[in-house]
Order: sequence, then C-alpha cells, then structure tokens
Amino acid sequence: MADTRLIRIQNLSKRFETLKVLEDVSLDVRIGENLVVFGRSGTGKSVLLKCIIGLLKPDNGQIFIKDKNILEISLNELNDIRKNIGFLFQSSALYDSMSVRENLAFPLIRHFDFSQKELDEKINNTLELVSLSDAIDKMPSDLSGGMRKRIGLARSIITDPELMLYDEPTTGLDPITTKEISELILNLQKKLNMTSIVVTHDLICAEIIADRAIFLKDAKIVHEGKIEDLSKSDDPFLKNFFSNEIVKAS
Ligand SMILES: Nc1ncnc2c1ncn2[C@@H]1O[C@H](COP(=O)(O)OP(=O)(O)OP(=O)(O)O)[C@@H](O)[C@H]1O
Ligand SMILES: [Mg+2]
Repeated sequence: MADTRLIRIQNLSKRFETLKVLEDVSLDVRIGENLVVFGRSGTGKSVLLKCIIGLLKPDNGQIFIKDKNILEISLNELNDIRKNIGFLFQSSALYDSMSVRENLAFPLIRHFDFSQKELDEKINNTLELVSLSDAIDKMPSDLSGGMRKRIGLARSIITDPELMLYDEPTTGLDPITTKEISELILNLQKKLNMTSIVVTHDLICAEIIADRAIFLKDAKIVHEGKIEDLSKSDDPFLKNFFSNEIVKAS
C-alpha cells in the first residue's frame, strides 16, 4: 500500500541545557493534510518546526520526510528537501530594502536557475494568487500589515513547495484580516496541493485551516484530534485554553 505520510516523526526529543522542550514526541502528517499545532508560549512549537526543516538538531529521535531520514542525510540532500519546503517565519519579515518583485525573486534565484522571463512569469502568477498584482513595484514600507503577510506568503509558496510550515501566520492582524489570510492559506493549499503545518494561537485561523490539531504541553503532545473535539473537551487545561482564546478573539 502506498505510504500516505509526508512526515514521520518518531520519539523526538530536544533540550536546551536543562530545559526540556520536546520529549519523546511522535507525529505523522499525511500528504495533503493541514495540521494545526497549539500550545502556550514557550512550549516548543517553533522548535518543532525548526527541527522539521533541519535548522535545529534534535537530541534524540527520527524525522522522515518522504521516507528520507533528514538527520542522516548529507547537506546536499537536505538542501534538496528544503527546496520543497516553504517556511513562513513568526516574524515573516520581508527585505525592507527590496521591492516586492525583488523579495519574490529572492528564493527563486537562490534555489533555481530560471531565465528572466521565467522569473517574471512566476512572480506575476504568484502575485495573482494572493491578489496583489498591483503591488509588484512597491516597497514593503508602502504596504499594510495584511498586505505584507500576503507578500510573505507569496514569497514562501513561489517555489511550489509540497510542504508549508507556518509559524503564527496571523499574529498582529485584526480579526477580519486574520480570516482573509487564513482563507487564503486554505485556498492556496488546495490549489497547489500542499501539506501544511500551522502553528497558531488563533482560533479563527485554526478553525478555518485545520483538518486536525495537536496540543503541546510540558514537552509532549497531550491532545490530538479535530478542533471541535478539542474545544469541547472536558479537560480543564483545554477548556481554559479555548475559553481564553475565545475571549481574546472577540
Ligand atoms: N536556540 C535556542 N537556545 C536556547 N533556548 C531556546 C532556543 N530556541 C528556543 N529555546 C527555548 O525553548 C523553549 C521553546 O521555544 P519555542 O520558540 O519553540 O516556543 P513557542 O512554543 O514557539 O512559543 P511562542 O508561542 O511564544 O512562539 C523556550 O523556552 C525557548 O526559550
Ligand atoms: Mg514560536
């Protein structure tokens, strides 16, 4: 039977000196799935994403991406896998001194050998996907926060990644823009057949995007399931988390 898992994480542990951040975490992500990762601040969500992309090395455990153990492959092989992964960082900073066009060209020039015509085509098509064709010659400082997020999103999908990792994609946005960006993420994911892992505190975002969610606490995955199930759970910790988030979101 064909393996439907894009990512297989087994018994992952990561500590910084005496601080245990992840302990014995195991997780599969299926091809095409949108997994949301919840957890209080400092529970290792960003560390988990950084381990998956090979920016941090775990102390123990295995991470397979499409059956390649990323902890045992050469740097060249790891770079090949990274070409296939888009990462929208928590800050999602654009290069301020570069225009939108130059920001979008950057990952293409770094990873591929496209002609100018191909570059222009890719940039135009991707800007169309995020409905910001008019912004091509603007500087980041001329854009609103929501527009900057869209351009950041465009920059991370322009290389056609199979896997997208989002770290707090809607932080700092008002509820309406949060909804728009979350719907955009979902639509892009469907159009481009991507698999996504989305770290978020934001219930509006999670409800729009998630097929499944996990909840990290005390270095472990303590809950896993559909958002509705997690939010209706009797578990005092989850109840508290969701009621706090709802208060924040309203
Ligand atoms: N490179 C590092 N060196 C030392 N400690 C680190 C490093 N990266 C992360 N940590 C620590 O690991 C813990 C988990 O960090 P992480 O950034 O994953 O949290 P998080 O769940 O993403 O939090 P937030 O929701 O605030 O972004 C924190 O206590 C953090 O200080
Ligand atoms: Mg984080």
